[in-house]
Order: sequence, then C-alpha cells, then structure tokens
Amino acid sequence: MVLTPKIVSSVKIPVVTVGGIADGRTMAAALTLGAQGVMMASRFIATKECEVHENIKQELIRKQEFDTVIYGKSIGLQGRGLKSKVLEEVLAIEARHGGFEELIPLLSGQKVKEAWVTGDVNYAPLMVGQSIGLINDIPTCKELLERMAAEACDSLEKASKACNG
Ligand SMILES: Cc1cc2nc3c(=O)[nH]c(=O)nc-3n(C[C@H](O)[C@H](O)[C@H](O)COP(=O)(O)O)c2cc1C
Repeated sequence: MVLTPKIVSSVKIPVVTVGGIADGRTMAAALTLGAQGVMMASRFIATKECEVHENIKQELIRKQEFDTVIYGKSIGLQGRGLKSKVLEEVLAIEARHGGFEELIPLLSGQKVKEAWVTGDVNYAPLMVGQSIGLINDIPTCKELLERMAAEACDSLEKASKACNG
C-alpha cells in the first residue's frame, strides 16, 4: 500500500508489484496504486500444476495471514515463512543472538527443497507471504487467472462508482 505508489512516482518504467496479491481484489488494488502488473508467489503454490506435496497446498488453505513469521533478520537473510517447529527453533536461536553457524543448518536450501517434496512443514522453513490468508482452493493456473481477471474488473468497476456517483 505504501511502497508501490512511492516506486511508481519515482521511476519512469512500468512497475510490477508483489506481496499480498492472491485474488482479483488485491490485483485491482495494485493496479489502482499505479502498478502495471503483479507478481504472485504464494498463490501459485496452491495450484494444480505446482509440484509441491499436496500436504503443503492443504496447509496453505488451512493457515491464515497470522500463521506466518519473519525470520533470519539477525543474519541479514530475512524472509517470511509458514510458522512451524523449525522456525520456532530459528527464532529462539536468533533471540539469544545465536550465530550463523547454528542457523545455517536449519535454513539450508537442501532441507527446504526436501520439505517442499515430502510435505513436512516442520522440517524446514517454507517461504510464504501473508497472502496465504486469501487462499481457499487449489485451482488450475488457467482457472485462477481467469477468475482473478474477472474479479479485478468487477472490483475496478465498483470502485469507479465512487467517482461517477
Ligand atoms: C516459494 C517462495 C520462494 C521465495 N523466494 C524468495 C527469494 O529467494 N528471494 C526473495 O527476495 N523473495 C522470495 N520470496 C518472497 C516473494 O518474492 C514475495 O515477496 C512474497 O512471497 C510475498 O508475495 P506473495 O504474497 O505473492 O507470496 C519467495 C516466496 C515464495 C512463496
């Protein structure tokens, strides 16, 4: 809400914005803020085509925006992920100023890769955004994008009524 319009005012090239966009309403909001396009990360995980374990897709439906947490700040590797046992451990280490050596084994890319495949959400940090609060189903990408386009047009039409009486 703040960064997109600031960036749009600061650059002379089209802006593609990211973060919190998972349906037509949030896409319409991004366009209203001046973005020319949007990127989505979390929403595409819960699609039929995504090759992650089914358990993770169901977890994204079950979990809400408050089920995510920021981690890795203390070592300059900040990310947001799904709350889990492993991220509790990571945050506990960070809280007592544990170092890189203690944290890296828990954050390793190999472990993350394994967790996406096995569906064990407590094995490694799984990066997702607060937009998971808007995920309620597992459509195909085609279904998702068609629905989003229709919803976005509907939202923009409704919003434009604020100007046209
Ligand atoms: C699976 C996954 C991997 C990501 N990897 C990175 C990354 O390597 N670097 C980065 O800056 N952001 C990464 N992100 C964050 C996204 O770029 C994005 O900023 C964030 O997820 C919020 O957008 P969303 O609401 O569409 O998920 C990742 C997100 C996901 C879901």
